[in-house]
Amino acid sequence: MQSEKNAMVVYPCSRLAGEISLQGAKNSVLPIMAAAVANRGVTVLYNCPEIADVYTMAALLRECGCVVDFKNHVMTIDAKNADNGLLHSSDSTRMRASILLMGSCLGRFGQFSMPSPGGCAIGKRPVNFHVDAMNSLGASVCENEDGVSGNVSKGGLIGGRITLPFPSVGATQNVLLAASCASGGTELMNASKEPEIWDLCDYLRMLGADIQGERTGHIRIVPKSSYEKDVSFVVPADRIVAGTILTAVAGTTGNVYINNIDCDRIECVISLLKARTDSSGRGVILNIDRRAELDCVISTGPFPEFPTDMQSIFLALMAVSGGFCIMEENIFDTRFNAAYELNRLGADIRTEGKLAYIYGRRKLHGGTVTAGDLRGGAALVVAGLFADESVMVRQCHYIHRGYENLAGDLCRLGAVITENKEE
Ligand code: EPZ
Repeated sequence: MQSEKNAMVVYPCSRLAGEISLQGAKNSVLPIMAAAVANRGVTVLYNCPEIADVYTMAALLRECGCVVDFKNHVMTIDAKNADNGLLHSSDSTRMRASILLMGSCLGRFGQFSMPSPGGCAIGKRPVNFHVDAMNSLGASVCENEDGVSGNVSKGGLIGGRITLPFPSVGATQNVLLAASCASGGTELMNASKEPEIWDLCDYLRMLGADIQGERTGHIRIVPKSSYEKDVSFVVPADRIVAGTILTAVAGTTGNVYINNIDCDRIECVISLLKARTDSSGRGVILNIDRRAELDCVISTGPFPEFPTDMQSIFLALMAVSGGFCIMEENIFDTRFNAAYELNRLGADIRTEGKLAYIYGRRKLHGGTVTAGDLRGGAALVVAGLFADESVMVRQCHYIHRGYENLAGDLCRLGAVITENKEE
């Protein structure tokens, strides 16, 4: 099958095998980059993934006045002379994480503005929880058709008690960023407990903030008056990339060892796929000689429930394995785009509101499908491995937003995937 620009051709694969170390976590590194703006020192990030969203965030940090250098997975952020919270570039509209600069910019510069953030087309992506939380800390922030903007009175942000209406990951992160720059402590209730929150808290503690409770949903923050520290931080491996690789093995067969993932970050995926953790707890092995059998109902939910970012990828596995499955998507309101593309390869997935009914044991045939978002694109690549003929996946730029080299990772384990990257 002839490839075209910005497309991958995935060939049928019956077995994946080998050992792999995974890229740093996209959803951990982006909030930490935003947090670095509040530090009047130098932050060095190791195992920083070379993905589109990181380059976009680096461009936004430069617009804030940071000096950012990034090569060979090492990012150096010198925010000593950062001085600008009024962001105009369209970079902010390319991803959701740009909203995380609000907390740091309000905290450090006392002002913030930005065109409305972008993000995958997986549903409405309002920022009302973020705006309300900032205003609870003494800011005056509002969102209008031009974007989000706000400022802080002379006294700066003031710590307080906040209860989020939903354990929103991004809103939790923005509260952590702003509260770390406020005067007085903050208590945050109904906070997200995702591993990405743990990592942000680890970084903020390195700077000197006193933070407790990030794994409980009830977080207490006691800030320092300012941050001026040279720190280095190793970005943990990406749990969704790990789940993607494990799902690919479960649908083909094989023997794969991921040697750098904290297993407590993807326990539910590990148990669903009957993978096992190595003695160190920092590695996961999946060794199977027949395709996984899934006959189950899975509901996505806040950590430690099944991660919404794994939902599309699991649809691909359910389409070929097991009998009848139901997937319930409880986090986003339109995150079944991949189902339509999978059906074009022969899957039988019927969606109704937040439920998808998957009639499994289907044989997938070849064809051309189009990625519509990051994780939906990854699902189509994984489905190509399970198919009986080659599959072309178009619009692969979506995949490159979060996967440093999904094709390369899978090829290192025995898959055959050709990619024609857009310039
Ligand atoms: C983060 O998005 C991740 N993105 C998403 O990963 C992930 O799917 C999501 O958390 C849930 O785990 C990044 O970390 C950059 P939320 P975020 O705020 O923070 C609603 C990927 O593929 N909501 O927890 O935007 C919202 O609409 C991406 O890597 C409001 O209503 O997610 C959603 O229905 C996709 N108002 C729900 O809450 C708000 O102000 C959860 O969103 C904020 C959110």
